[in-house]
Amino acid sequence: MLVSATEMLQKAKAGHYAVGQFNINNLEWTKAILATAQELNSPVILGVSEGAGKYMGGYHVVVGMVNGLIQDQNITVPVALHLDHGSYDHCYKCIEAGFSSVMFDGSHYPIDENVEKTKELVAAAHAKGISIEAEVGSIGGEEDGVIGAGECADPNECKAIADLGVDFLAAGIGNIHGKYPANWKGLSFETLAAVQEKTGDLPLVLHGGTGIPADMIKKAIDLGVAKINVNTECQLSFAAATRKYIEAGKDQEGKGFDPRKLLAPGAEAIKATVKEKMELFGSVNKA
Ligand code: 13P
Repeated sequence: MLVSATEMLQKAKAGHYAVGQFNINNLEWTKAILATAQELNSPVILGVSEGAGKYMGGYHVVVGMVNGLIQDQNITVPVALHLDHGSYDHCYKCIEAGFSSVMFDGSHYPIDENVEKTKELVAAAHAKGISIEAEVGSIGGEEDGVIGAGECADPNECKAIADLGVDFLAAGIGNIHGKYPANWKGLSFETLAAVQEKTGDLPLVLHGGTGIPADMIKKAIDLGVAKINVNTECQLSFAAATRKYIEAGKDQEGKGFDPRKLLAPGAEAIKATVKEKMELFGSVNKA
């Protein structure tokens, strides 16, 4: 059964570890991530961007696929299905379709409008027992067409949004989606500490988990980060393994590639990436 992410993240924050959010794109990715979480006895959050939701055929398809895998693959660890960087309208669509968690990315609105919309969505999500994440200070880089400059959040704005009753908060601390440029200055722990001071026990979220050095990840967790989002790294490992398989030319006589065999190495590569992250984040055996 899907669960909201609130309890797993409160436990993570209290226990000084973080739960990984791994973005999904299809059945193979989802199955690989769930199998790894089960094998490592770790809670997990499946992230779905609006683009990925559309690609998979719609939010009801995603809910049906994830619930079916949980049942048929005997997944017993806590799993949250979470809309990643949702717009106002799509948060409502996911709440209606059966997601157990949503992120409202109102960071591009003026703070007053972000507050107003977040307040309304908090009520709608909580009425159905769904958790809700909000964002202050945009995360840099490009993800599914959403481009941000990577600013640092204003701790007072974080407090204003936290006070609306969101369950966890993504605060920009110099993190960006995708690969970090060579001249990246690193995470702003000063900002993170200031946000943490203003928001108390609220679990904080670190987006752009790909390519952040392990020592920075650990320090971020020490300072209150309880959820870390990873997408690009799964994509890179999936692509490398698939390319290798194709280049090895293992196609069937006169039939082209067996589609199941074609996607298997990529799925194995995702399992390895997810395992490495769960170990680094400290969520193993925390289900
Ligand atoms: P990366 O693609 O950098 O891992 O970031 C993922 C993310 O933050 C999803 O919201």
